[in-house]
Amino acid sequence: RPRVLSGIQPTADSFHLGNYLGAVRQYVALQDTHEAFYFIADLHALTVSPKPEDLRRRTRVAAAQLFAAGLDPDRSTVFVQSHVREHTELAWILICLTGMGEAGRMTQFKDKSAKVGEGGTNVGLFTYPILQAADILMYQAEQVPVGADQKQHLELSRDLAQRFNNRYGQTFVVPSPYIMPEVAKITDLQDPTSKMSKSSSSPQGILDVLEDPASLRKKIMRAVTDTGSEIVADEENKPGITNLLRIHSALTGVPIPELERRFAGQGYGAFKKEVAEAVIETFTPIRERTEKLLADEVQLDRMLAAGAARARAVARETMEKVRDRVGLLPAM
Ligand code: TYM
Repeated sequence: RPRVLSGIQPTADSFHLGNYLGAVRQYVALQDTHEAFYFIADLHALTVSPKPEDLRRRTRVAAAQLFAAGLDPDRSTVFVQSHVREHTELAWILICLTGMGEAGRMTQFKDKSAKVGEGGTNVGLFTYPILQAADILMYQAEQVPVGADQKQHLELSRDLAQRFNNRYGQTFVVPSPYIMPEVAKITDLQDPTSKMSKSSSSPQGILDVLEDPASLRKKIMRAVTDTGSEIVADEENKPGITNLLRIHSALTGVPIPELERRFAGQGYGAFKKEVAEAVIETFTPIRERTEKLLADEVQLDRMLAAGAARARAVARETMEKVRDRVGLLPAM
């Protein structure tokens, strides 16, 4: 079975709808057909300097949400990135293969560092995509399910895999992004031309998986809509309605053209109400299962330990080969 791998950061107290539709739902679907590795990217989260207690809590909440969303610990290897020390080791080796200009061209780094100003940025943010490449190449993953914002990082991973293979001999699988175009960029409800993001300016634009239903409903009813009153997908002129159509369609399985027909002649209100119901119906069972999983931290930590043990076995094998290829002396 082909291998998939993906990672998600524990940078907030809940995943949001963009994470869910763009990534987590694909993780769950792919575990049936692929050998799957999924991890909580706690080392990546360190680049934004979280308080230690926040990082600890969010790492568990993230893990619980992954299991609650349907990842099955028997079929998927679910682990915490920092539990497999080899990630940072491979990252260093790949850092030494990456050009300064190449790393500096990463748009996410440029956006993030522009936001915080040069004084607030750190070297971890700069090398972030190289650690991500290490995550991916370590497991010889063929496909990487992600949202559109990760496309450039995946390009770098491919380049580094090819460069390493050319320089040191065939070692890494060259990974491909697995992006579902319909849900690759869920946008902010208050600013429907920007992606829904944890670092977004207003919480009104973000729908959290663990949010209570009343609050979800309120945000959706107040979502920015566009001029006119027709419910049609039109990215250019009606980004707000287009986003809501995508969300509805992704959650209910009803194709967008059919939704357009069904809501022809009706106002935005009736449509938004249905979107809200679809979101609440999806999130409620995940929220409830997450709460249950979090109530037994010992069991949750045990599940993560089992995942880490399986991941480590693969990582060890890769690193033995890598150390030898680049000329590091075995420690005996
Ligand atoms: P993170 O934690 O920011 O996001 C997790 C996943 O959610 C996707 N996503 C979205 N998809 C659609 N619409 C949105 N508005 C939206 N917002 C986020 C992201 O594309 C991502 O797939 N760098 C990664 C974490 C990572 C990783 C990896 C991913 C670390 N190592 C190795 C894959 C492979 C990130 O920032 O995820």
